[in-house]
Amino acid sequence: MALIKQAMIADKAVIFALVYGEEVDPNCLGCLCEASTKCNVSTACHVPYPGAYFCGPFLISWAYWADAGKPIIDGDNVERKGAFESCVQDLYCGAETVRRYMAKFLDDCDGNGVVTCIDVIRTHKLGRDGCNGVISQGDKFWAQYQTCASRFNL
Ligand SMILES: *[C@@H]1O[C@H](CO)[C@@H](O)[C@H](O)[C@H]1NC(C)=O
Repeated sequence: MALIKQAMIADKAVIFALVYGEEVDPNCLGCLCEASTKCNVSTACHVPYPGAYFCGPFLISWAYWADAGKPIIDGDNVERKGAFESCVQDLYCGAETVRRYMAKFLDDCDGNGVVTCIDVIRTHKLGRDGCNGVISQGDKFWAQYQTCASRFNL
């Protein structure tokens, strides 16, 4: 069981390493995925509250995907209805969406003078305009991030 779990993480790590950019460490992407949904690639699109629509293992919204420049899976057409869902429900394209969003908007959200994975987490969760806001410590997202981050010394 432990071996299987490890293999799964290693498998995803390869994908996250492929989308590596200067902004986001692959382990940080992995922990963001863990924090969002335990990195469940079967996470469907859902409406958690009116006006919200989140999809895929990173729980990405349409607006976030659009801000990231609307990446698509190979061979898809950005104008196709469903191009958003297909991308963000795919682990690689979802991770690429996060990477592009961070390339544009990542900043020192908590104002501590360095840009770390916490700033990535904040930007993802709170968005580009409110990343210095409050993340409730009781939030499952935060708890799952911290468990993962301590494993990878983030
Ligand atoms: C992943 O998400 C799907 C769809 O919501 C769910 O049926 C499945 O049980 C989840 N898997 C895990 C390992 O949590």
